[in-house]
Parts: sequence; structure tokens; C-alpha cells
Amino acid sequence: MTAEHFDAVIVGAGAAGLHCAAMAGQLGAKVLLLDHAPKVAEKIRISGGGRCNFTNREATPANFLSENPHFCRSALARYTPADFIALVERHGIRWHEKHKGQLFCDRSAEDIITMLLTECEAGGVVRRQPCAVREVRRAGDGFELDTDGGPVATARLVVATGGLSIPKIGATDFGHRLAMRFGHRIVETRPGLVPLTFDGTVWAPFVPLAGISLEVGIEAGSGKARGRFLEDLLFTHRGLSGPAVLQASSYWHEGEPLRIDLAHGHELADPLLAAKRGSRRQLGNELAELLPRRLAEAWLAARPGWAARPVAEMRDADLRELAAGLQGWEIRPAGSEGYRKAEVTLGGVDTRELSSQTMESRLVPGLFFIGEVVDVTGWLGGYNFQWAWASAAACARALGAAVGPNLHG
Ligand code: FDA
Repeated sequence: MTAEHFDAVIVGAGAAGLHCAAMAGQLGAKVLLLDHAPKVAEKIRISGGGRCNFTNREATPANFLSENPHFCRSALARYTPADFIALVERHGIRWHEKHKGQLFCDRSAEDIITMLLTECEAGGVVRRQPCAVREVRRAGDGFELDTDGGPVATARLVVATGGLSIPKIGATDFGHRLAMRFGHRIVETRPGLVPLTFDGTVWAPFVPLAGISLEVGIEAGSGKARGRFLEDLLFTHRGLSGPAVLQASSYWHEGEPLRIDLAHGHELADPLLAAKRGSRRQLGNELAELLPRRLAEAWLAARPGWAARPVAEMRDADLRELAAGLQGWEIRPAGSEGYRKAEVTLGGVDTRELSSQTMESRLVPGLFFIGEVVDVTGWLGGYNFQWAWASAAACARALGAAVGPNLHG
């Protein structure tokens, strides 16, 4: 069977693959987009609770984790949240801002998928799905692929197969394995934006707090690899959850504690010492003015007799120690819920071997990596899609430039 020829073959029809295919096609490249899953862009479909948090207005390189933190700078600067918002608006998709710059569809994540598919059609992209890639070979300056749809030949191969999270909807390590086969280094991968688990005995004293939600300061990691967030924390029967823990999880390593300020924004010692001088109430009632009552009660339960003691009779040192404990609470997760529940994969193709301008391999000309398969991982809040769009755009411009000016306009 003779191979079909394309200017570019993109493996993975997720966020990055669709956007790259559409842009490159519209820049004049003859593009084939393949995916082994029966449906395109499953992660877009389930993202943002079905409404897709498609970007973050405030995205900067500081919102991303990577062994090479400057790598994402160029792509993010050349394809900004405003560029994606303009595309969304051209398609008449209504959206709203939730908080902290997070933009969601008013109606459904399906609107983003339809938009990307329409853009692919406008670029004349050939799409095959489900279509697995069985073999990839270097052939001269290009590549040959054996696919379920027959052999194809291409000058440029773009790997957009995403991360390892949620294998049941099609995530694989195809991109990482292919990168290694062509001599690339992989920065160790681990689940990110993932619920953390807690040992039953460590958690037992906090079980009565299930259902309490409050904004906290949360910190994980150390040195340059430290993440600090102000986010909502949810106490559950089994441990801590909510955006605070998801954000911190990307900076957390096994064995380390999370550090939590349960009264962020206050110097908790000040109102407690002031109450000591001016209040006749019990410590339990004073603390319940400053924190959710159940949290105050559970915290004091570990200090027999304190809750009912008049605050005026407390020692300054004890009040200070109480405040410091609540504002510097250290709790050690046992582990994480793993790729089954993770929103993203940390690590991936080492960016030191890629061009930050085009996402092209420095080792194998014509080979590109975009989106989550690359060692660039965003915070929770629309940053990961922004990376998918921006890295796809950087690559698409290079694919378009390689075929010369687009004579079709
Ligand atoms: P993506 O995973 O989108 O696409 C990869 C594609 O490659 C898939 O279609 C897959 O089938 C295909 N593929 C894999 N292996 C293959 C193989 N061997 N052969 C052929 N094809 C293969 N981010 C954000 O910014 N805002 C949000 O609201 C959310 N919400 C969210 C919710 C949940 C539940 C998850 C799991 C993730 C998010 N994310 C998110 C993260 C976001 O979905 C993710 O970072 C991007 O989809 C990454 O885009 P990619 O195109 O790189 O991979």
C-alpha cells in the first residue's frame, strides 16, 4: 500500500492537537489529525464541570511548573488569553468570569469542541478517529507512520497526546515513549492537581469537621519549588479537599507536610490577646468568632478544659501558641489519588531539548511536542488549556512557515 503524503501529521486530537491542526491548516499546510479514541477532546468535554475553564485572563509564566520555568514564556507571550477570547467571541460563544481570572462557557464545553472542529474544517484538516498509530519511523528528513487507516508519510510529526491522567478516557504514555525512542529525556512524571489522601489514624480527630469549607493560605514544597495559594479548603470524612489541596498537590512530594493557615488575613494572636484584656467570655466562644465554630471546637477539644475557660484567665503564651498552631497547621498526607483522579501530569518531555519558539525537537528536526506531554504544567484555573492553545499556536506557525505563504488567503 503506498503511503499518503501530508505536510504535517498531528497525533492526538485533544485541546492542543485540534488547535494546532486548525491553525496550521489555515496557514496552508496539508494536515492529518489522528486520535485513537472514538471521540475528540474528551478532556475538554469533562473540563470545568462540563463548562470548560478555557483560559485564565491573568495567565503568566509564574502560573506554571517546569524544570525550566522560562521555557513557556515565549509561546504564552505570542498567543495570549486575549487571542483565545477573540476566537471564542468570533464563534459567538458566550462566556463568564468566575473568579481569579477564570473564564468558563455559559452553556457547555461542547461549544469549545464545536469551535475547534469548525476551525479544523476551515483549514481543510483531514481527521481520522478512532485511528491508532502502530509504528513511527524516521524516513529521510521526514517520518513514516503505520496507522489503522493505512501508511502515511509526512515531513513533520507533531505529538499532542497529552498527559497520563484519566486513562479511562484515552490517556496514554505514547508521547513519552516516542520522545524517549528519539533520544529525548523525560522529566519524571507524577499526578498533579490531584486529591491527596490521609491516613485514617492521622485524620480521625478531624472527622467531625466534615463539611466545613473556608478560605485558607496553603503551602507545599520548599525553596524555589514552593507553591503558596489562597484558596477554599473543604474538610471531608476522609481528609482535605477542594481547590486549596488540588493547587498544593502539584508542589507536594511524598513524605512532606502541607502547611495551612486556617485564619489567613488575620494575626490570630492579636484579637485573642485583645479579648484577654477586654472580654469575659470563654475561650471557645472567642475563637468561634474568628473561625467556623465547629473548627474552633474541634481544635480546642485537643486541649482539655481550654474551651470553657474564661479567655481572661489564659496565659499570653498559651494564646500565642494556639494562634500559631492554627496559622501554621502542618498535616502530612499519606499519598495522592493518582492518575485516576488527577487533572494533569507534571513532568514530561524535557523542554531543554525543544525550541521555545516552535516546540520543535532540537534532536530530531521535524518532530514537535505540544500541550501537556511537555514538561509545562499549569495551576488550577484555565492555565493548562492556555498552555495547550499557546504551544499549539507556536508549533502551527512553524508548520505554516514551512509550507510557504498561504496562497488561499
Ligand atoms: P489532551 O488530553 O486534551 O488530548 C490528548 C489526546 O491524545 C486525546 O484525545 C487522546 O485520546 C489522544 N491520545 C492519547 N494517546 C494516544 C495514542 N497513543 N494515539 C493516538 N491518540 C492518542 N484545564 C484547564 O485549563 N481548565 C479546566 O477546566 C480543566 N479541567 C479539567 C478537568 C479534568 C477532569 C481533567 C482530567 C483535566 C482538566 N484540565 C483543565 C486539564 C486539561 O484538560 C489538559 O491540560 C489539556 O486537555 C491538555 O491538552 P492536550 O491537547 O495536551 O491533551
